[in-house]
Amino acid sequence: MYALYKLLRFLKPHWVFAVIAPLLMVGEVLLDLMQPRLIQRIIDVGIARSDIPAVIHTGFWMIGFMLIAGLFGAGCGYFAVRAAYGMGGDLRGALFRKVQTLSFANLDTLETGAMITRLTSDVNQVQEMVMMMMRGMVRMPLQLVGCLVMASMTSPRLGLIFIVILPALLIALVTIIRKTFPLYRQVQRALDAVNSVLQENLAGVRVIKAFARSEHESARFAVANNALIKQMTTAVRMSSRTTPVMMLTLNIGVVAALWIAEGQVQVSGMKVGEVVVFINYLGLAVITLTMFSNLIIQISRAQASARRVVELLESEPALEKPPEASERTTHLKGRVAFENVSFSYYPTGQDPVLKNISFVAEPGETVALLGATGSGKSTLVQLIPRFYDACQGRVLLDDVDVRDIPEVELRAHISIALQETVLFSTTIRNNISLGVPEAPMEKLQEVAHAAQAAEFINHLPDGYETVVGQRGVNLSGGQKQRLAIARALLPQPSILIFDDSTSAVDVRTEAHIQRALEDNDRRQTRFIVAQRISSVLTADKIIVLDDGEIIGQGNHAQLLESCAVYREIYDSQTENGVLIHSGH
Ligand SMILES: Nc1ncnc2c1ncn2[C@@H]1O[C@H](COP(=O)(O)OP(=O)(O)O)[C@@H](O)[C@H]1O
Ligand SMILES: [Mg+2]
Repeated sequence: MYALYKLLRFLKPHWVFAVIAPLLMVGEVLLDLMQPRLIQRIIDVGIARSDIPAVIHTGFWMIGFMLIAGLFGAGCGYFAVRAAYGMGGDLRGALFRKVQTLSFANLDTLETGAMITRLTSDVNQVQEMVMMMMRGMVRMPLQLVGCLVMASMTSPRLGLIFIVILPALLIALVTIIRKTFPLYRQVQRALDAVNSVLQENLAGVRVIKAFARSEHESARFAVANNALIKQMTTAVRMSSRTTPVMMLTLNIGVVAALWIAEGQVQVSGMKVGEVVVFINYLGLAVITLTMFSNLIIQISRAQASARRVVELLESEPALEKPPEASERTTHLKGRVAFENVSFSYYPTGQDPVLKNISFVAEPGETVALLGATGSGKSTLVQLIPRFYDACQGRVLLDDVDVRDIPEVELRAHISIALQETVLFSTTIRNNISLGVPEAPMEKLQEVAHAAQAAEFINHLPDGYETVVGQRGVNLSGGQKQRLAIARALLPQPSILIFDDSTSAVDVRTEAHIQRALEDNDRRQTRFIVAQRISSVLTADKIIVLDDGEIIGQGNHAQLLESCAVYREIYDSQTENGVLIHSGH
């Protein structure tokens, strides 16, 4: 129950609704409880004495009560929805914000599918439970006690039936419910699996088609889907056992009441109306208990979900939090130094991806990183904005450990174009101005021009207002990369990182981008991860990585002398000293 309890704080902002809803329910319950008494009046006064005006009169009262009770009920429903959905919305918001704060290492371990389940289905379960609580927490006890009192007042003798039946019923219910509790946790887990397959497939549907794997993937989905159906069926079958138990009890109660009453009507002149009323209250009491069991089942579902929600809500970013305040401020020279940095993606430190990396990038220098795929280039540059923390050694920015710089400040100084371009389904303009939403149009045009994107953007139907992605135009890989470059240029950071950002751009365009960057007189430290010799020739410093180690460091001329691997790469991309792919 602890997890659910923790989530109740999300109900706080909506407490007014959460209080009004049950209060209105009190009105509905009291009015409902009056109905059987009115029926009794119709039977014992109206019909027994053939008093037609009394029947009509009482009938009007019944309708009136029913209408007012309905109003109370609708009001309760309205406020319950406001409270529960308000809370659900806040909870989803909090989860979403939480996901935004997670570190790269957290995100590596969380499955997108499971996160989607948490933000949708799990929150829904909690929300439904709160709604049922709003309606039920007053209604159930009040109605149950009300039935007991009213029935006993009608006929103390018949009231004894309640005393025997209700505890027996409760025991049966509790037994069933205890069995359903763990089942719903498995239901949510099965839902995770479905969402994971779904998410992967929706994201990768083109690849699946390209490799003619549709049937295989459909089968994989069917497995997850069937598992969900099975779990759900088991859980519902278990919880639906409550219904026959209820009906059986109700019928036993009715038979018992009729049996006792049969003698009473003759011996002590008990009226038929009293018996009818009693059976009415008995029925209402059983209905109340059915509602109660449904609520308990919903609570058990919500409990399973709440645990999962709390788990995500309380997951801590894997990075150590840097001090919030800092004496360092806006200006950064842009010196970057790696001091004996080693890094592994595993907390245990096994399979290090970077080993003992040391180098310095002076302010305004362009540092190129060269090396085979998997040699650790992307990992290396991701340590600068602190997407991950070094396991050993330090990464320094202007002689301060990046771990001592508040995240927001750190990221404000660094722009990175990641190896995989992500565009959002919005306009080109919004995609470029991601880091500086308020940037004026001229700035946008300027960076688009530098990134060699201006031309193709201007050819798009709506220029900068063209929507890209899922519901808009599709761009080529190279065009996407150029948008990512423009996006990274816009904030004019002290440190600029391009992680293989021109791999899909033709050599000539790449050369133009390079020239535009060189013409930019802003002193900026740049890191350029590249595959082509042509992209690194003019760099102030070239670092050659091999399997996580630096095997060469220097400028082009120096490396040709000193680094065999560099010379090898150079030879493979040139012919008689001329670059093979030089742009024409
Ligand atoms: N998120 C990750 N979790 C675990 N291993 C990773 C992760 N990202 C990369 N690696 C591994 O780290 C090594 C270096 O990868 P990377 O830095 O991307 O190399 P490069 O950019 O030079 O191609 C590779 O062996 C890769 O499999
Ligand atoms: Mg890479």
